[in-house]
Amino acid sequence: MSEALAARLGAALLGGPDAVIYADREGLIRFWNAAATRLFGFTAEEALGRSLDLIIPERQRARHWAGYHAVMAGGPGRHGPAAVLNVPAVTKAGATLSIQFTVTPVTGDDGRIEGLAALLRDITPLWAELKRLRAAGATPAAG
Ligand code: HEM
Repeated sequence: MSEALAARLGAALLGGPDAVIYADREGLIRFWNAAATRLFGFTAEEALGRSLDLIIPERQRARHWAGYHAVMAGGPGRHGPAAVLNVPAVTKAGATLSIQFTVTPVTGDDGRIEGLAALLRDITPLWAELKRLRAAGATPAAG
């Protein structure tokens, strides 16, 4: 792929429907796209420089940071590199969403992980339907 195409493709994906969040080694938000603003209600100005705790419900934080730092240290993570995680998130308005996300390490020229990029999407209706089906006994409970 040419560099020009790679740049156009990157810009298109960052401007697309999936929320893209990039956080540095400390877990501070360094990139926040328009879809992240639509999803969580915080503008880029409000989110940049803040901890990811901005959108992580308090009871999820310890597990998140344990996983975050393990992957940042170069480990495979509990779920492996292709993991798709489903978690609750909180918005600026205080609403709880069900989100699904994947995480990709971003490495510097020296091969060291500099930060983690996440692609996130809202699965609130899907998750609610799954819970309804489970409660009705239609599918085996997972997890
Ligand atoms: C609403 C937002 C988020 C919530 C509620 C959340 C919550 C969690 C939870 C509960 C875990 C533990 C999963 C487990 O061990 O089974 C986890 C792991 C992790 N999270 Fe987050 N997280 C959020 C956003 C993010 C973002 C934006 C990133 C990266 C920029 C990230 C990076 C990670 C990583 C790398 C792991 C470890 C995955 C693994 O062990 O395979 N998380 N998170």
